Amino acid sequence: MEIVVLPDSESVAEFSANIVVELMRKKPAAVLGLATGSTPIALYQHLVERYRSEDVSFSEVVTFNLDEYLGLDPSNPQSYRSFMNSQLFDHVDIDLRNTHLPHCEEAQNPRKVGAAYEREISHAGGIDLQILGIGANGHIGFNEPTSSLRSRTRVKTLTERTVQDNSRLFKPHEAQPQLAMTMGIATILEARQLVLMATGESKAHSVRQAIEGPLSAMCPASALQLHENVVFILDEDAACELEGLAYYRWAHAKNQLLVGQHGYFDEGLTSLDVG
Ligand code: F6R
Repeated sequence: MEIVVLPDSESVAEFSANIVVELMRKKPAAVLGLATGSTPIALYQHLVERYRSEDVSFSEVVTFNLDEYLGLDPSNPQSYRSFMNSQLFDHVDIDLRNTHLPHCEEAQNPRKVGAAYEREISHAGGIDLQILGIGANGHIGFNEPTSSLRSRTRVKTLTERTVQDNSRLFKPHEAQPQLAMTMGIATILEARQLVLMATGESKAHSVRQAIEGPLSAMCPASALQLHENVVFILDEDAACELEGLAYYRWAHAKNQLLVGQHGYFDEGLTSLDVG
């Protein structure tokens, strides 16, 4: 694991964007795993800017989102499809047919939809780089505490805390879904490179549990300890409970010398293991 601690949320977004851009330049048909929520919004703004300044093109990129609410039509402004369109896809040259979210129609069997999503990811060649946020309760995607560490794309019931945390995004008259379809933890762990972004003090506890706590289904993000190429990109507030902070800063400075020379992805696109 590499733990990168940066002064503020803006630097977290910029650092994350540089990793995505590096991959897209080395592999124009990259398969990106994307997240929604407040945290990656600034990352998507950076990617849009990099596209506008002709640094990168999304024309061959394929994307798979982590999750989607169950029972929301993609046209619903609260759907994660709408979020992705308005934050990123509408502003770049991506082919919308190459963008995927685990949407399940009411009449469909969620198990079949989950299995089909997994197959689509494999047919695309697997995810090169998965972007993750983290819930205040340690969830990744909508894998809430007690999610099996071997879980695959399926329906999850959101915890009261997650519903509460996300209620800020819903207007009083809007019904807030409590079920979601999400990639599983095993699905996430199959991505070749993981980037977890976290900002703000409300994430400090779950970040500490994920990095320094025991491997436990009670903190789904702790499963990332099993991945050989994971970078946690944190602002000072999200990192404030970490006990090993001094070491992480020191190791990151050393790692940057390597990454500066070779980048995060080598020519064969195996990620550079700097953790
Ligand atoms: C959403 C997702 C969630 C969020 C997490 C943090 O696709 O995967 O795990 O990353 O709930 O959300 P924010 O960034 O809003 O704090």
